Amino acid sequence: MAQSFGLIGLAVMGENLALNIERNGFPIAVYNRSRDKTDTFMATRAQGKQVQPTYSLEEFVAALEPPRKILIMVKAGGPVDAVIEQLKPLLAPGDILIDGGNSLYEDTERRTQDLEALGLTYIGMGVSGGEEGALNGPSLMPGGTRSAYEKIEPIVTKIAAQVDNGPCVTYIGPGGSGHYVKMVHNGIEYGDMQLIAEAYDLLKTVGGLNQAQLQATFAAWNQTDELNSFLIEITAEIFKVSDPDTQEPLVELIQDAAGQKGTGRWTVMSALELGVSIPTIIAAVNARIMSSIKAERTAAAQELSGPGLIAPVDQATFIDQVRDALYCSKICSYAQGMALLAKASAEFGYGLNLAEMARIWKGGCIIRAGFLSKIERAFTDNPQLPNLLLAPEFKQTILDRQAAWRSVVATAAQTGIAVPAFSASLDYFDSYRRDRLPQNLTQAQRDFFGAHTYERIDKPGTFHTEWAALANG
Ligand code: 6PG
Repeated sequence: MAQSFGLIGLAVMGENLALNIERNGFPIAVYNRSRDKTDTFMATRAQGKQVQPTYSLEEFVAALEPPRKILIMVKAGGPVDAVIEQLKPLLAPGDILIDGGNSLYEDTERRTQDLEALGLTYIGMGVSGGEEGALNGPSLMPGGTRSAYEKIEPIVTKIAAQVDNGPCVTYIGPGGSGHYVKMVHNGIEYGDMQLIAEAYDLLKTVGGLNQAQLQATFAAWNQTDELNSFLIEITAEIFKVSDPDTQEPLVELIQDAAGQKGTGRWTVMSALELGVSIPTIIAAVNARIMSSIKAERTAAAQELSGPGLIAPVDQATFIDQVRDALYCSKICSYAQGMALLAKASAEFGYGLNLAEMARIWKGGCIIRAGFLSKIERAFTDNPQLPNLLLAPEFKQTILDRQAAWRSVVATAAQTGIAVPAFSASLDYFDSYRRDRLPQNLTQAQRDFFGAHTYERIDKPGTFHTEWAALANG
């Protein structure tokens, strides 16, 4: 019997998605480059399920009912191109290839053009939620032609996470838009993770909280309407774990050097190219880079001293201030991510519906959070909202809490604790809200040394001044 869906690549994400698809009523054919992996999968997790193993791409393609729907779950980059090249001669017009990896949106754009010229259809689909999400319901961000999306809609709407107002999947837009949105999701993920790391550092180093207190604080924050989220929840869980040998908090035994696979960096590169300010996300990427030069930092720690003793703080007050600082910073970070999506949508013709983007992130994905309902509402109320900071609810929150936020950033500076994402967020807010910034001086300097000209606030036109002559005249 021909299968309704096919999946290539049985690493853990691929396996879990295959099981999710099968569980939802779609018999599936699977293929993996190494035969052993397929055999192990069939003998264990796929046993007794409607999963058909195949051992060559020819056999795999022949097992699928046309138009074929094939999900590729291999490593982003060269391996995706290699699989596509091998599949091309085996496919027929109308067949649909779906790339579910973290591919660069520009690669997806190129592959789409290449395959559509052959009469094939390509969907670049962001998949978020890690291993657990893949199995039980991820957030899915499919981009490509709408007619192709409609052919996979019955499947993706079933396998995605479900929230109060529907499945965490929607048609994102054409070309590479699905992978673009997933990339920005990951940039926001980096921002959230860095903000939480800074809150932890402050609570521990300045607030003096021990592991049990850290655990209780994050668990309590996870009960709030504002901060309830997957990342806060797992942070509280992490503080529950002690090393079985030493009984010390396991997190304290982990090397403080963060890895990264590229999606955060791509978000930053795209924002710089499009001219969208995303300082919190940039700070998060920078923080990982700085953390990674561990040996150099250890040597520098012997040479460069900070302010010394940390003054005691009232712990309960400080915890609340850090919570407020975290929430205000988070609002700024999402404001940046959504502004980037809006600009990319206009620039690349994606036609993104920002309220829908927030909605499909409410469940399944790594940044899932109660807070996304507020963002969904803000863009539903005003799809043209220029910046999330101007949405009535967020505006009021920041106005109410900025004193606490400023106090936390000031305390961090005074005590020598780096809080790059908290500070970048506050700088974003202060830059965005100030009518006059000092770039009048920048313009004067540019005109001084390069005759780059400037505009004036008191009359129209373009001006150039012979600054040196006038200054010394
Ligand atoms: C998700 C995640 C996932 C990503 C990891 C690793 O949405 O499920 O974003 O796709 O691969 O989070 O990212 P880094 O290795 O760059 O931290």
